[in-house]
Amino acid sequence: MEEIIIQFPHSVSSMNEDYSFKIVVLGDCAVGKSNILSKYSKNIFNKTSKSTIGVELVTKFYKYENKIIKVNIWDTAGQERFFSIINTYYKGAKGALLVYDITRKNTFDNIEKWFNELISINSNRISVCLLGNKSDLSLLRQVSIDEARNKAKKFGFRFYETSALDSSNIKLAIEEIIKDIYIKNKNGFYSEQNYNNSDKFDLDKNYKEQKKDNENNICGCNF
Ligand code: GTP
Ligand code: MG
Repeated sequence: MEEIIIQFPHSVSSMNEDYSFKIVVLGDCAVGKSNILSKYSKNIFNKTSKSTIGVELVTKFYKYENKIIKVNIWDTAGQERFFSIINTYYKGAKGALLVYDITRKNTFDNIEKWFNELISINSNRISVCLLGNKSDLSLLRQVSIDEARNKAKKFGFRFYETSALDSSNIKLAIEEIIKDIYIKNKNGFYSEQNYNNSDKFDLDKNYKEQKKDNENNICGCNF
């Protein structure tokens, strides 16, 4: 699978894709969702990143088996207060990255909660990859690799430990899930679904206001 780099003066909207896949990134506050995506899309790690307000979007294009695939990855907020806004964005997702922090056991315990939220909106026809992030902090580990593998096996998820700090497994995990979606799509796995694929990035007025209120908020979650 080969990434297509779009260079100026071309733009995302000028690409004619054969397929468009939506992937959502879920998990508790501060597990590293936004840093995983900024590492993947811009090779940037932010030590003091602000908590995500609502949702943010990353778009990439790939060429695979001579087809152009557009991938929209939606980074969602881990804070409970955004639940009612963000869960509508789960709709139409063919893939999900469920992220926990290997140094905080409760974020691992909450994975089922995120998965149940996801399938309550989206049905369980979705490719899921469990990501144990912050593998660079393995000295502070509270979740063993075996424990995580067992959970992944139980639910039929793929599993990787990742680090947004040292880049470990990030590109691999995301590209594997894209390939998995591509193959399932080709085999008709999603075809019985009546997906609503309108995944336009649309910040409504309330959302913009909330964002303004929270500009100085590093992280509003309690842990
Ligand atoms: P919300 O948007 O609030 O849901 O949080 P998030 O899951 O997007 O977390 P974010 O990416 O903002 O990261 C939270 C904190 O963890 C930041 O201080 C990051 O620098 C740090 N962090 C993220 N990924 C890693 C990692 O792989 N290793 C280490 N050591 N720190 C990380
Ligand atoms: Mg975030």
